[in-house]
Amino acid sequence: MARDAVIVAAVRTPLAKRNGGLSGVHPADLSALVLRGLAERTGLDPALVDDVVWGCVSQVGEQTFDIARTAVLSAGWPERVPGVTVDRQCGSSQQAVHFAAAGVIAGHYDIAVAGGVEVMSRVPMFSAITEGTSPLGELYAERFGSEFPNQGMGAEDVATMWHLSRSQLDEYSLHSHQRAAQAMDEGRFADEIVPVTTADGVVIAADEGVRRGGSTEAMARLKPAFKPDGMITAGNASQISDGAAALLVTTSERAGELGLTPIARVHSAVVLGDAPMPMLTAPIPATRKLLDRSGVSIHAIGAFEVNEAFASVPLAWLAETGADPKALNSNGGSIALGHPLGASGARLMTTLVHHMRHNGIRYGLQTMCEAGGQANATLLELM
Ligand SMILES: CC(C)(COP(=O)(O)OP(=O)(O)OC[C@H]1O[C@@H](n2cnc3c(N)ncnc32)[C@H](O)[C@@H]1OP(=O)(O)O)[C@@H](O)C(=O)NCCC(=O)NCCS
Repeated sequence: MARDAVIVAAVRTPLAKRNGGLSGVHPADLSALVLRGLAERTGLDPALVDDVVWGCVSQVGEQTFDIARTAVLSAGWPERVPGVTVDRQCGSSQQAVHFAAAGVIAGHYDIAVAGGVEVMSRVPMFSAITEGTSPLGELYAERFGSEFPNQGMGAEDVATMWHLSRSQLDEYSLHSHQRAAQAMDEGRFADEIVPVTTADGVVIAADEGVRRGGSTEAMARLKPAFKPDGMITAGNASQISDGAAALLVTTSERAGELGLTPIARVHSAVVLGDAPMPMLTAPIPATRKLLDRSGVSIHAIGAFEVNEAFASVPLAWLAETGADPKALNSNGGSIALGHPLGASGARLMTTLVHHMRHNGIRYGLQTMCEAGGQANATLLELM
């Protein structure tokens, strides 16, 4: 039997607002909580895990020193279980799933955990860039200029390039909140959320970023966040947040031996680069590459998770791909729920597999824009 890679379980913490309910939790501890949650939900003996592949963007301070390994040890898992930390910027933990799946298919792993974390309250975005230094050297500057690429300006450029209006961005974002609120009210996240009990005994069980009763009028009053005459605001950008997510990846054969029921198979996985500025366009060619590789038509796909880094990103993607808008981010996205950078790839995939299972959707596609102008794209098939 040819080796495949299947997802047998997927869990996440609630996503908390910046300085909200999870801001008192160390990122290694938050990671450990989802690892424990995964083991508890599956009954899996953690000693069987061959590797933990963990996305994290700001690998500095509390998030450095290979946080994947610290998370394993903090979870109480056996010392023999290793962990490795991955940086593909906002797609880090989607990349972690790709690495885990490839390792399982290759036979390097029988069982792997893929996931990620970011506690942006404690380790702010860009905090790995130290005063007076730049990750970009002279050769980069000769090619692309010395200005540091700014994702908000990239989102502005994407809105302009695809002729998107401020009201289109705000309307899309309002829908993200409405869809997330409906998903919460209908208990659609119940199977995926591992509640977190903080040190002072407070139980955080629900996503904090979702706004109810919003309006496009209130959103229209928000000031541009990145340039004075711009369209990108706090309302149509992803929120800065805290969270962690994890998926258990193995072969269907091993899952059967362990008595675990696979949810979805990793059908195809690609990654691709596009221009480093406007930075956020790569999900479009990555989707094309994925469709070409898989031979599956966009019209056969019933669920899409396209990360809402900014509203202009999924809207440009939609305009180019012709995907069904109703199937796009139907449980809300990072605008409503939040975008804890290193956790988001695994968070989106967790929501995607549960959504596919609940609704009997055969194919689901995920893609995310990433700093540096890259994108991962994954096609899942329900089992
Ligand atoms: C856009 C951004 C700069 C805004 O930051 P911020 O100003 O600190 O955002 P806040 O959450 O404090 O919101 C600002 C205001 O907008 C309001 N607001 C936010 N969303 C709103 C909505 N949907 N409706 C009405 N008001 C809203 C907030 O209530 C807040 O109001 P206040 O100032 O009266 O308290 C920040 O969210 C950001 O950088 N996002 C992108 C993160 C990122 O780049 N991730 C990587 C992707 S590539």
